[in-house]
Amino acid sequence: MWHSIVSYASLQARPEYGFTLTRGWDTKQGLVVLYAEQVYAYENSCPHQQVALNWSPHTFLDPNHEFIQCSMHGAWFQPDTGLCVRGPCLHRQLRSFPVRIQQDQIQVWFEFN
Ligand code: FES
Repeated sequence: MWHSIVSYASLQARPEYGFTLTRGWDTKQGLVVLYAEQVYAYENSCPHQQVALNWSPHTFLDPNHEFIQCSMHGAWFQPDTGLCVRGPCLHRQLRSFPVRIQQDQIQVWFEFN
């Protein structure tokens, strides 16, 4: 099902946003980024250690807003593909969510099992 995450206007003001989806005891963490005027959504889980990429809420991009960054190891992931281009998970990829914009809301598709 589609989940509303944040407004597009908010993402234009700050191009990164973390979220947690919950159903009962199940949770799924993710992030959305605005990059080159496109919205991308990924699981907030590094492909090599399955830990969250951020230390502080809603902070995922490097200072230049060019890459999604693992705050633990400084690894870089391309915002438009999720591909790791630097760091211990080189050539591995963040898992993406389908994403859409509906009436100024960023929505991601995720189905709990
Ligand atoms: S946890 Fe994988 S690069 Fe940091």
